[in-house]
Amino acid sequence: MCALATVTNADSDMDVREGKRIYTQCTGCHSPDYNRTGPKHCGILGRAAGGVKNFEYTKAMSNSGIIWTSATLNQFLLSPFNTVPGTSMGFSGIASERERQQLIAYLSQLDERNALCN
Ligand code: HEC
Repeated sequence: MCALATVTNADSDMDVREGKRIYTQCTGCHSPDYNRTGPKHCGILGRAAGGVKNFEYTKAMSNSGIIWTSATLNQFLLSPFNTVPGTSMGFSGIASERERQQLIAYLSQLDERNALCN
């Protein structure tokens, strides 16, 4: 079990590293810890869509009823416009399932345990 857990951690560390690289496609508009053209991403996992204070979302996003989980992020990042019709996020999506998973691994660790988010 220990060996397995170690392997799993090594895998996800690698995913986070790759995800950080892929996140450079987002940093034209987003930053983990402050609002820019897009809302900050710290604490995204488990948060309701449209939930960052002091960020002016579209009605489409605020009223979407989405809670951000790996599954909903996977859907949204594949196709933002189809997932939230009317969103102002001007990004066509990431076609590669593997890259989306790596990006989600990166986004998932943007929480209070991450120095960036404190
Ligand atoms: C061209 C600018 C732009 C780019 C590039 C962009 N975003 Fe966004 N993003 C936005 C805007 C603007 C919003 C708010 C949309 C709305 O209110 O409809 C948003 C919203 C989001 C949300 C919903 C956040 C919340 O608090 O509910 C997520 C998740 C997100 N973006 C992830 C990403 C990721 C990951 C990338 C990179 C793959 C990315 N975005 C690239 C502009 C961008």
